Amino acid sequence: KKVAVLISGSGTNLQALIDHTKNPAIKSAAEITLVISNKAGVKGLERAQKAGIQTQVINHKNYKSRDAFDAAVHDVLMSAGIEIVCLAGFMRILTGGFVSKWQGKMLNIHPSLLPSFKGANAHKLVLEAGVRVSGCTVHFVAEEVDAGAIITQESVPVYPSDTEQTLAERVHTVEHRAYPAALELVASERIELQEDGKLLWK
Ligand code: GRF
Repeated sequence: KKVAVLISGSGTNLQALIDHTKNPAIKSAAEITLVISNKAGVKGLERAQKAGIQTQVINHKNYKSRDAFDAAVHDVLMSAGIEIVCLAGFMRILTGGFVSKWQGKMLNIHPSLLPSFKGANAHKLVLEAGVRVSGCTVHFVAEEVDAGAIITQESVPVYPSDTEQTLAERVHTVEHRAYPAALELVASERIELQEDGKLLWK
């Protein structure tokens, strides 16, 4: 399956996905053929280029509306023959129209155990709440932000001495396992998103 990864930044999850899909011992059902960033000059683009993957910057600031930006992204995905989209630190909210076009074909990773601690500052919310366990979630993208059927989760402990940075680092290590595992489940069609929004395990 041809996969595009959408990023906005450092792309360590992108790197984990690249390493997984290119590992000859794994015979992955997924091939990353395109990386799109809404920001130029980010580290993730460099990672893609090093791996010989086509990259494209689509700067949201050049579009008048979210619809116009999303339409541009959709066109690029379609002309590249993309079948699965992975959001990996992509910091733009996608419109309902775009999300519905990629229903059951678009995954996101979020750095908390959903449905708790949605949004852009999950680690801060986790520390404020004083919970002793956090983690990451890979899920199908639904129109509501950080919602949608959960594919996989991994947990990490939260220590009293944690800062947002130390917690983020610990969560990143499990993200780098969880995302490739989730992509593999989808690309190999071992799971599927049903009409009712629930997962079907085959
Ligand atoms: C990850 O923590 C991911 O869960 C969140 O954004 C971060 C991206 O990190 N959505 P990276 O760019 O993959 O290093």
